[in-house]
Amino acid sequence: MKKILTISAFALSALMANAQSAQEQWVSSMLSKMTLEEKIAMIHAQSKFSSPGVKRLGIPEVWCTDGPHGIRAEVLWDEWETANWTNDHCVAFPALTCLSATWNLDMSALYGKSIGEEARYRNKTVLLGPGVNIARTPLNGRSFEYMGEDPYLSGEMVVPYIQKVQDQGVATCVKHFCLNNNELHRHTTNAILSDRALYEIYLPAFEKAVKQGHTWSIMGSYNLYQDQHVCHNERLLGTILKGEWGFDGTVISDWGGVHNTDQAVRYGMDLEFGSWTNGLATGKKNAYDMYFLADPYLEAIQAGTYGEAELNDKVTRVLRMIYRTKEARKATDGSMCSEAHYAAARQIGAEGIVLLQNKGNVLPIPAGKKVLVVGENAIKMMTVGGGSSSLKVEHEILPLDGLKERFGAANVSYQRGYVGDVGGEYNGVKTGQDLHESRSAEQLIADAVAAAKNADYVVYIGGLNKADHQDAEDFDREQYDLPYNQNAVIEALAAANSNLVVCNLSGNPVEMPWADKVPAIVQMWMLGSEAGHSLADVLSGDVNPSGHLPFTWFASLDQCGAHALGAYPGTKRVDAEGNDVKIDGAEVWDLSYDEDIYVGYRWVDKKSQTPLYPFGHGESYTTFSFSDLTVSADGATVSCTLTNTGDRAGAEVAQLYVGAVPGKGAAAKNAKDVAKQAKAAAKNPAAVVVPERPVRELKGFRKVYLQPGESKTVTFTLTDADFSFFDADHHNWVAPSGEYTIAVGASSRDLPLVQSIKR
Ligand code: BGC
Repeated sequence: MKKILTISAFALSALMANAQSAQEQWVSSMLSKMTLEEKIAMIHAQSKFSSPGVKRLGIPEVWCTDGPHGIRAEVLWDEWETANWTNDHCVAFPALTCLSATWNLDMSALYGKSIGEEARYRNKTVLLGPGVNIARTPLNGRSFEYMGEDPYLSGEMVVPYIQKVQDQGVATCVKHFCLNNNELHRHTTNAILSDRALYEIYLPAFEKAVKQGHTWSIMGSYNLYQDQHVCHNERLLGTILKGEWGFDGTVISDWGGVHNTDQAVRYGMDLEFGSWTNGLATGKKNAYDMYFLADPYLEAIQAGTYGEAELNDKVTRVLRMIYRTKEARKATDGSMCSEAHYAAARQIGAEGIVLLQNKGNVLPIPAGKKVLVVGENAIKMMTVGGGSSSLKVEHEILPLDGLKERFGAANVSYQRGYVGDVGGEYNGVKTGQDLHESRSAEQLIADAVAAAKNADYVVYIGGLNKADHQDAEDFDREQYDLPYNQNAVIEALAAANSNLVVCNLSGNPVEMPWADKVPAIVQMWMLGSEAGHSLADVLSGDVNPSGHLPFTWFASLDQCGAHALGAYPGTKRVDAEGNDVKIDGAEVWDLSYDEDIYVGYRWVDKKSQTPLYPFGHGESYTTFSFSDLTVSADGATVSCTLTNTGDRAGAEVAQLYVGAVPGKGAAAKNAKDVAKQAKAAAKNPAAVVVPERPVRELKGFRKVYLQPGESKTVTFTLTDADFSFFDADHHNWVAPSGEYTIAVGASSRDLPLVQSIKR
């Protein structure tokens, strides 16, 4: 007979309290043994990616790695350049936009477990990721590293990733906290926004990472807020992160994000990295001693400017992170480039691919057909380049190779169509590909069109890439439409062959002026090592697509609130004489988030605009129906039935949106109504002014797998938090009594089940 071990809640909490106290005992005992110099050494880097421990006391070093899609190649001690190791290849997992597009918490857990094992195997203490900055503008060059535009989706999806990485004894470093929503002027942008936008849109995913994911570290971002760099920001790091949220882990700076000693000492920076990029060539004896939290801090303590309280707090936090990783890693050795990791990358990739449209059921492509593949992204490695997320992979299945493997090499031919980026090197890591091409742009189109006329199907694989101003760190995109004349190539192919499938690779929406001339459009993201397999799985129908958009696909850039209002990229601050105003020695770009809480679908819904594809959209090779909505009187329990009405197995995402009905207590009718309430509230400071609110907001989702004809009941639980807005006047969340709509369906604009409730 099997023995079943049970553990009471009481015993469990006693165990946890013991573990907690063992941790705190170790931390304070180590702290009490450390000299002042040893403490100072622990709070800044000793190399590009490491900080020292204390050898004398057996306290290990901290080794960080990027993040967030795979374990970065080793670099030289003091430089970004590759160290040219031969055993530091990794598996590239799909970009985080793809993970988010799965809308599946299990995929997030699988991702976290897999990348955590790779980080553990490589002996890393901290994985620099995941990222949850909100997609405020589709021009943000780094959107691919984040989880989309919605605070609820990002917040839910980030938690399992964190938990599973940390199970491997590797701390996650959730980044970039916060308001790093554009790469253009990323070091000098001063974000100006209401508290309501801060708390409702930009903080929730980080808050969940802290309170539910229990991340052991967090990365301060490059930009400014309230005229202070966020790596030493009194309000964001001090008041909110460590105060309101009770974060007890380590705040790590983004590389080079610290700018002054005094603020770094007082405003929440715990561990400084990257302040100089060439540590050996600059400096008195060792450039790392010149870090803001190195000699300048030591000397200030010795001079009596500061006591040791702030220092002890910082060291305590670093020690806590070390203890947590040290304990958890005892249970695991990790693994690298395992079959399981490739399988995970392939599965997550296929599940995140979004079928944007499929007119006439052009997809899936049947076996035995002649398939012409066109486009540079079918043959270009995408794992190298794009900034700190660049990887050195053991292998990368290119889309063209994946399709040849699946449909048979004899059935698949290729045409380039256009030339985009022929580069293939990042910090000395080389793809080894030679993508140079001598044909003219016209000739490339003519050759592709001629071949398209003889094919049964044309699969176009294009979009963005990792070059500057595409999907890349440190740059924003300069245009919303596709680069490299791709629109002309696609138009020409659409005219030549009616079975055209356009696969777009990007971490952002792009303009698609040809969308109604192309039957099938697939959003394929940066898919990593298994890109070709994941794509072939979906195009062949081996996997029924079930990805849904984590952001709104604007028809044009002016459908995005930030751009409609000209609230990007801000204005350079100058004084009365027209001279640049400087903070920490550099210019400042004031960027006012004028669209306020109306980011993504919240904006297009408010303006009743029709995006090309709405937030949450994604099609399937089967069909689903939603029925039997039941909502309890107080709105706490919502359930419905989801049925697969087609003839293929598939998965649908049931999405639940809550809307506060204007003028019925839960939301103001209009601006006039708000002004009237504000006038009355002026006499009564306790009165709450109910503002205008978004038409709808995502408050629940569930991915449901169904066989043909099968039905399942989906149940959601809602709490007060799901009906609340942030009342900045009283610094509080408020769920006003009044009328709300509860809507369930397959996207933010496909909501067949709607019910009003009063609560
Ligand atoms: C990036 C971070 C990255 C760090 C280390 C910075 O430039 O913004 O995301 O983790 O470099 O490579």
